[in-house]
Amino acid sequence: EGLLDTEFIGREIIYLDSVDSTNSYAKRLGEKDFIDGTVIIAEEQISGRGRLGRDWVSPKSKGIWMTILLKPDIKPEQASQVTLIAAVAVMKGIKGVCDTDIMIKWPNDLVHNGRKLCGILTELGAEIDRINYLCVGIGINANSDEKDFGDLNTATSIKIASGLQADRKKIIAEVLKSFENYYSLFLKNGNISFMLDEYKKASANVGKEVRVITKDGEFKAVAEDISSNGHLLVRRDGGRIEEITSGEVSVRGI
Ligand code: BTN
Repeated sequence: EGLLDTEFIGREIIYLDSVDSTNSYAKRLGEKDFIDGTVIIAEEQISGRGRLGRDWVSPKSKGIWMTILLKPDIKPEQASQVTLIAAVAVMKGIKGVCDTDIMIKWPNDLVHNGRKLCGILTELGAEIDRINYLCVGIGINANSDEKDFGDLNTATSIKIASGLQADRKKIIAEVLKSFENYYSLFLKNGNISFMLDEYKKASANVGKEVRVITKDGEFKAVAEDISSNGHLLVRRDGGRIEEITSGEVSVRGI
């Protein structure tokens, strides 16, 4: 098609009309031999998955439901940084085609006026000190209408936010291009300090009060910064800085 201008991300594209979940599909591929940078895209997901065991509603042809399957030579504990890279790449990709103001809710939700536009789910197959495959699942509500969200008024789409029909192909090409740029830099440098300023500038949390919700309970704190390995640094009532990793945690604005 000539639209996609990348070196290795999307060298192989698997396009599906319908699938359980592009992340589940990618994991199955990941267990076998696969081409680094393979992208799986589906028109519809029957059981799309979100973070923290949630469902991800993926109506037919309304969004961009895709997974980038990678084989990075990094340690498993570095994998969460790829999620932050994806968040910045998607933000740039969307901004490249339409002029909406988008913010990043740590670690990886893109929001417009406080409503969620995109979610990212990173999953990996790993052994103790090496990654066999890494799936970066990206769900962008592109052309969903209000009715597609039912009672869920915490979600929005590019179409709702911008008033214009979103060109999904163009957005995919832009997102994959910026993902490749940042991901290559990350592989070279081993951390994401090169894009921290950009991430923080777009952050909906840094400098604000947040509610941190973990398995063991929740607490209020001020989000002070993001560390160079992508963790959220928070402080409760003038206490010490605490480092929050994305694993089982959910962060809400207050
Ligand atoms: C979240 O915000 O909780 C993450 C949502 C991730 C959704 C995407 S859509 C493509 C990929 N396949 C899935 O089943 N989930 C991710």
